[in-house]
Amino acid sequence: MSLAAFGPGKVILLGEHAVVYGAQALAGAIARGVHATATPASSCTLVRPTGLKPAVRQQLAAAFEAAAEAAGRPAVQVRVESDLPISMGLGSSGALSVAVARVLLQASAPSGTPSARRVTEVALEMERQFHGTPSGLDHTCSASGAVIAFRKRKGAELGTARTLEVPTPLPLAVVLVGERSPTRSTVAALRERQARWPVRYGRLFDQIGRTAAEGIAAVEQGDLAALGDAMNVNHGLLCGLGLSSAALDAAVHRLRSLGALGAKLTGAGGDGGAVIGLFDSTAKARRATTSIGLPAFTSTLTRSEEHTT
Ligand code: PMV
Repeated sequence: MSLAAFGPGKVILLGEHAVVYGAQALAGAIARGVHATATPASSCTLVRPTGLKPAVRQQLAAAFEAAAEAAGRPAVQVRVESDLPISMGLGSSGALSVAVARVLLQASAPSGTPSARRVTEVALEMERQFHGTPSGLDHTCSASGAVIAFRKRKGAELGTARTLEVPTPLPLAVVLVGERSPTRSTVAALRERQARWPVRYGRLFDQIGRTAAEGIAAVEQGDLAALGDAMNVNHGLLCGLGLSSAALDAAVHRLRSLGALGAKLTGAGGDGGAVIGLFDSTAKARRATTSIGLPAFTSTLTRSEEHTT
C-alpha cells in the first residue's frame, strides 16, 4: 500500500512582508508543487533528496521530525519530489510542508481524508523549522489550493484565510530572476530598519495593506486592470521598503513592456527571486515567458485547483 499527496506552490500577488506586521495579503496556489509518497516501514522516516547543502539537509530533518511528532509518528517512509524552484519565493517549503503533512496524516488515519485544518496545523510545525516565525501565508495558501485573502492580526497566533471567488481567471507569467538570500535574513534585515524608523515603515506597511484590500476586491469583481495597477503600486512600495534589486526591477519593467497589466516581485525578494506579471490572456502571458530571456513559466490562477499551466 502506498499513499500519495500533493502540496502546490504559491505566488503572492499582493502584501508580502507587510503581512508579517498584520496587513492583509493576496496569494494563489499554482500548478507546480511537491509530491509526497509514503510506503509502510518500521518507523517514521524521510528519504532526503540527494544534492542538498548540509545546512538544508539538517533543516529538512528537523522539519520532518516536527511534522512526524505532530502527526503521531505513523510507521511509513516518506519520499518527496518537486518541480518548484527552491528559494525563489514560490513557496517551496510551504508546499513541501503541506505535501508531507497530508501524507503523514493519511498514514495516521487511513480511513479518511485529513481536514484542511489538521493539514495546516502540522504543516505549520514544519514551516517554523524553515522560517522561524512565518506569517503562515505560504503553507495556508498551499493547503487551500486556491486564491486566498490572508491576514494574521498583530498578536494573533494564527492567521485566517478566505477563499476567493475568481470570476475572471488570472493569467500570470512567473519569471525566475536569480538566486536570493533566505527569507529569514531578508525578513530580519527589514525588521531592523522597521525598528529604527517605525513610523515611516509603519506607513508603508499600512499602504501595502490598503492596496492588498483593493486588489482583493478587484479579484472578486473580475477587474484585471485594477488588480494589475494594485500590483504595480505594491512593487513601488516594496522598492520603498528596500526589498527590490536592479535585476528584479529590470524584469518587472520588461514584463510591463511586454503587455503586463501589472508586475511586481513576489515573495521575500531582496537580492533576487521571482517576479510575476498579470496579463489579460494566457496566450499573452505565454508569449512574455518566451521573449523575456530568463527562465519563466505561466500559471493561470482560478478559484480551486483547476490550474492551467
Ligand atoms: O519565503 P517567501 O519568499 O515565499 O516569502 C514569504 C513571504 C513573507 O511575507 C516575506 C514572509 C512571511 O512569513 O509571510
